[in-house]
Amino acid sequence: MIELETEVQKRRTFAIISHPDAGKTTLTEKLLLFGGAIRLAGSVKSRKAQKHAVSDWMEIEKQRGISVTSSVLQFDYNGYKVNILDTPGHQDFSEDTYRTLMAADSAVMLIDAAKGVEDQTKKLFQVCKQRGIPVFTFVNKLDRYGRNPFDLMEELEKVLGIRAYPMNWPIGIDGNYSGIYIRNQAQVELFEQAGVHGQSALPSSVGGVDDPRFKEALGEEIYHALCDDITLLDMAGDEFNIEKVGKGELTPMFFGSAMTNFGVRLFLEEFLQLAPPPVPRVSSVGVVNPSDENFSAFVFKIQANMNPAHRDRLAFIRICSGKFSRGMSVFHPHTGKSIKLAQPQQFLAQERTIIEEAYPGDIIGLFDPGVFGIGDTLCQEGSEFRFQDFPIFPPEQFARVQAKDTMKRKQFVKGMTQLTQEGAVQIFRQPDYAVESFVVGVVGSLQFEVLEYRLKHEYGVDIVMNRLPYTLARWLMCENCEDIDLKLKSMKNMDNGMLVQDVKDRPVALISNEWQLRWVEERNPGIEFLVVPQDA
Ligand code: G4P
Repeated sequence: MIELETEVQKRRTFAIISHPDAGKTTLTEKLLLFGGAIRLAGSVKSRKAQKHAVSDWMEIEKQRGISVTSSVLQFDYNGYKVNILDTPGHQDFSEDTYRTLMAADSAVMLIDAAKGVEDQTKKLFQVCKQRGIPVFTFVNKLDRYGRNPFDLMEELEKVLGIRAYPMNWPIGIDGNYSGIYIRNQAQVELFEQAGVHGQSALPSSVGGVDDPRFKEALGEEIYHALCDDITLLDMAGDEFNIEKVGKGELTPMFFGSAMTNFGVRLFLEEFLQLAPPPVPRVSSVGVVNPSDENFSAFVFKIQANMNPAHRDRLAFIRICSGKFSRGMSVFHPHTGKSIKLAQPQQFLAQERTIIEEAYPGDIIGLFDPGVFGIGDTLCQEGSEFRFQDFPIFPPEQFARVQAKDTMKRKQFVKGMTQLTQEGAVQIFRQPDYAVESFVVGVVGSLQFEVLEYRLKHEYGVDIVMNRLPYTLARWLMCENCEDIDLKLKSMKNMDNGMLVQDVKDRPVALISNEWQLRWVEERNPGIEFLVVPQDA
């Protein structure tokens, strides 16, 4: 019991959210380096190779269904067990990225100092907000021109609705920064000269920013600018409040540069102290605490055919309570069966290792004989409950998909069913549509490419795909209708939309844009247009 509690308290499981190119790969690499998990030369080389051989890399990524790299990276640091849920930094977006956040206890939001809050950061932040998990902000690329830090704070508040507490502050004028001031240590750190990665530290001898030693080191103008900024922050800024951080209402904000390693160690150490260990999760029988001795976990990702030679299928589970040991049997409420977990795997970058034991907060991959679905619960034998369902992420792009060769119909349906179970795409059917085809919905268009590639390479099916001009899916409900089918058949102003059914035969309207949606809603009183199905 004490062992379990100690292991829980050591864990920090988080995801890094950012827009592509903000520096997530670089930051992840630097964090792993501190943990001694990778050797510098190897990692940098492989990353460069990835970048320069774009086509090869795309090939591998697609072959593995874009998300193999969104595995977990585990390392030890200062007595902590750190699990980074890595999500690939694609230009495009997929539901996988969203789901990974379901397994995280906190998030690090990485922002480019020159660009501020970008599109994908916004979307990912919304998921963190819905879950109410703490978000820590790292403003990256401070080694080159960056925006005014007060502007960035204001942008976080205006665009994301979260207030920021700067833990450190850039030193410099007009976006030319030479270092940071660490507020709680009253210490100045400057980029080291001569291109050496690292920093030189100058602690205050008087315990505040107005130390004459800083004036000497920084020069009059920069020194005064820094003093003014810090005074303003101390007087007009928010107080640091860990409860607000915990609820996702205040984000601790760090400035640094992943590439030059500046401010990264400081960030890691503060983050590990402030970020929460695994948190209790809501289930059908109430809250499940991580230190509860009964084992429980949920599946947050399924990945088939990771290794084309073996055609295996892996289910990634996040442990929520109890201790996991290799070979243990667990109960799978979804099928009502007991399952022996014989070959659990853990991941470090692309390498897999068999693991013997794991604790709440840890992620493991299980060989899946085809029984697991996204969001499924696993619990101790003898108990039966389910964790809350995963939210459905509304698709934003649609296409009609059919097999080129009708003789391949069977493989086509099998492939589509498998990829839907994996959560790679969402499928809809158009009732009364003569040809065997599906309407496919995705969050990001890369999912279409992956679908096409995987159907061809894993199921031997070439497809014809026609993009459809819709951007919204709305699940239809009618509280007081006697016959919903009849009501839907006579729906008005749907000429620019399409009526389909989801995999559970629930009616869904596909609509071209928000304006059109309002038009249709107004003309069809009595019908409700829901962003997600009611029983989801
Ligand atoms: P991503 O995973 O978020 O997409 O970003 P990634 O780490 O690949 O970084 C994107 C680009 O930004 C890379 O440059 C990387 O070197 C650069 N970068 C990351 N952190 C910093 C930083 O602190 N300062 C500066 N100045 N640049 C940074 P690239 O030219 O695309 O690739 P490479 O040739 O450097 O590998």
